[in-house]
Order: sequence, then structure tokens, then C-alpha cells
Amino acid sequence: MIDVAVVGATGAVGKELLTVLEQARFPVGRLTLYASERSAGATLCFRGGEHAVLPLDAAAAAAHDEVFLCAGAGVTRAVLPALRRGRARVSDNTSALRLDPRVPLVVPEVNGARVQEGRGHVCVPNCTAVLLCHALAPLQRAFGLKSAWVASYQAVSGAGRRELERLGAELRADLLGEAAPAAPHPLAFNAVPFIGGVAAAVDAACGVFSGEEIKVAAETRKILEQPDLEMAATCVRVPVLRAHSEAVFVELKSRPALEEVRAALHAAPSVELRDEPEKLVFPTPRAASGGDGIHVGRLRRLERPGSFAFFLAGDQLRKGAALTAVQIAQLQWDLPVTLRIA
Ligand SMILES: NC(=O)c1ccc[n+]([C@@H]2O[C@H](COP(=O)([O-])OP(=O)(O)OC[C@H]3O[C@@H](n4cnc5c(N)ncnc54)[C@H](OP(=O)(O)O)[C@@H]3O)[C@@H](O)[C@H]2O)c1
Repeated sequence: MIDVAVVGATGAVGKELLTVLEQARFPVGRLTLYASERSAGATLCFRGGEHAVLPLDAAAAAAHDEVFLCAGAGVTRAVLPALRRGRARVSDNTSALRLDPRVPLVVPEVNGARVQEGRGHVCVPNCTAVLLCHALAPLQRAFGLKSAWVASYQAVSGAGRRELERLGAELRADLLGEAAPAAPHPLAFNAVPFIGGVAAAVDAACGVFSGEEIKVAAETRKILEQPDLEMAATCVRVPVLRAHSEAVFVELKSRPALEEVRAALHAAPSVELRDEPEKLVFPTPRAASGGDGIHVGRLRRLERPGSFAFFLAGDQLRKGAALTAVQIAQLQWDLPVTLRIA
């Protein structure tokens, strides 16, 4: 049995992780839950028992067998020296080390073999990149990938528990005609095309990219091991509770027929094709919520040779974060990998 710690256990990802650990029957021996001082006195339920949430202590966290990091990049950077001195294997949901060339960035169904190169620390990619790579990898394998242009429609739970609470307060205020909490851009009844602040280190001649847009492109290139992939994303926050959606335009190196592209997507273990628009069957975030499949549909061949468009939706808290983190831990401990639960 494995001595497990979850750092950031009270957050949106941390709570989903506890659910997935339980559902995947991960062999948890001892379980220790860490969060900030704000959560002192809180308890969370796991396998029917109540577990106290402790204030994070880096040295104590580093003494567990497996540590799931789900408390933000700043917390990861703060605990990293202790983790490096300790013996814990780390499955890291935060962005702190994702682009570090020494640290594998893993989507298990795409590049799971890379886990063993991690010397104990493996990163879960950005949730929008995870969902995207499940659809791009089979196309890359079958036909070669030249470019991928993406527009994302990202759920509010992707920004954490507090933003979900903000959406609730704004919706209540708007619907009851009350004064809404002050915010530069309300989430309620809106679409906000700027996620993650201004990206650092982008050529000024290219204009302003958001942090999320840079992460999606850079991480997708790392996961697919294709630094020359022509790619960009426009990332938009929409007032959906959970599950991100993405409109994707790809150019493939060979020029397959529409049915060959459909067959390649259909054969991917994590993809669920939902592509009968004439019967109103297509992906939506609401239908993808709570599941582990990446719903793909609205597949169309475009005028430019080798170019296709499709739409995908996937639960970013499960497949985009918690389930991927648990799969990585299963690979770290040579356990059978849970492909799907829900
Ligand atoms: N949400 C998603 O869909 C998603 C998907 C993929 C990856 N991620 C990444 O996963 C991480 C967590 O995201 P989230 O959405 O779960 O955020 P969240 O809901 O805001 O939760 C943050 C968690 O971190 C804890 N925390 C904050 N400051 C801390 C500190 N100084 N010491 C210890 N714990 C601290 C919080 O504890 P308190 O409750 O005590 O404040 C809470 O448990 C982020 O790096 C995010 O980028 C999120």
C-alpha cells in the first residue's frame, strides 16, 4: 500500500483527485491532506472516513511515497527543494515545471513511456492541452501534423473553486436584479477572451498573448515531441461550470479522406466520436461533464488540401487533471493504468 499526500486537497482539482483515487481503487495506505492555513480545521471524506486537512509543511509532505501537487505553481516552487531532498514520487498538476526539459510532461495514452524518465517528478499538462492531445496524437501518428489552430471555450471550474463561487454570485445577482460583485469582466452571461494574465517572454512584434495561450501551444509541442508544429490558440473563459470545449483546425501532412480521419479518431482509446449533426449528435461540455472520454464531432474537410475542422469537449477536472494525475502515479508504481472510469 502507498502512503499518499494531496497538496491542495480542498481545491477543485484536489477534491476531484480524491474521488478518482477512490474510484480507480488506487492502493492508498495512509492518506494525508494538505492545504493552506485557511483550511485549518476542515475535513474531507475519503472511502467513507473523514480526514483532517493539515496546513502544508514541505518537509512532512516530502516524506510520503506519492505526492499529488494541486495547489498552484507558486506552492510547487516553494515545496520543490524539500521534495528534491525527500524520496516521494510526485505527480504534479501545476505549471511550475511543465516546460523544464528534465521533467516529463505526460498524457498517459500519448506518451506514457516518458514517466520513467522523470526521476520521480512528472507533470500533468495544462488541461486544455491534455484534451487537445488526445485528439491530435492519433492524427499525428496516422497522417503527420503540420499545423493546429485552436479556439477554446473554457469552463469556470478551470480557474478554481473561488471563480466558481464568483460565477454563482454573479448569476444570482443578475437574475435577481441585484448589484453584482465588482469585477472588470463578469463571468455571468459573458465570454472573456483572456485567461492567465499576460504571457511573459513573447516577441513584442507578435502582440499580446495570454499565459494560457502560450501554455497550450508550448505544452502541446512538448507532448507531441514536435517543436516545429505550427500552432496557436485563442483561449476564452465561458460561463460553463465544468468541461472545456475546443474548436480545432488542423492541416495534415498527408491528404487523407474525411472517412480516414474519422477512423483514426474513432480508434483512439480516449476519443468518443459524437458526429451525427443531422441527428443533433455533437460534443457539448454539458454532455462531457463527469465523464472520462474526449467527445469529438463536427468533423469537416476544408477547402485547403489535408485540412480538417472538428470540435471537442472533455471534462478538464477529470481527464484534464485528476484522472491523468492518477494514471501517472499508476505508471510511477508499475500499477495497471485505469483508462476510463466514468
Ligand atoms: N481547475 C482545473 O480545471 C485545473 C486543471 C488542470 C490543472 N489545474 C491546476 O491545478 C492547480 C490547482 O487548481 P484548482 O483549480 O484546484 O485551484 P483551487 O480550486 O483554487 O484550489 C487551490 C488549492 O491550493 C491550496 N492552496 C493555496 N495556497 C496554498 C498554500 N500557500 N499552501 C498550501 N495550499 C495552498 C488551496 O487551499 P485552501 O482551500 O486552504 O485555500 C486549495 O486546496 C493549479 O496549479 C491549476 O493551474 C487546474
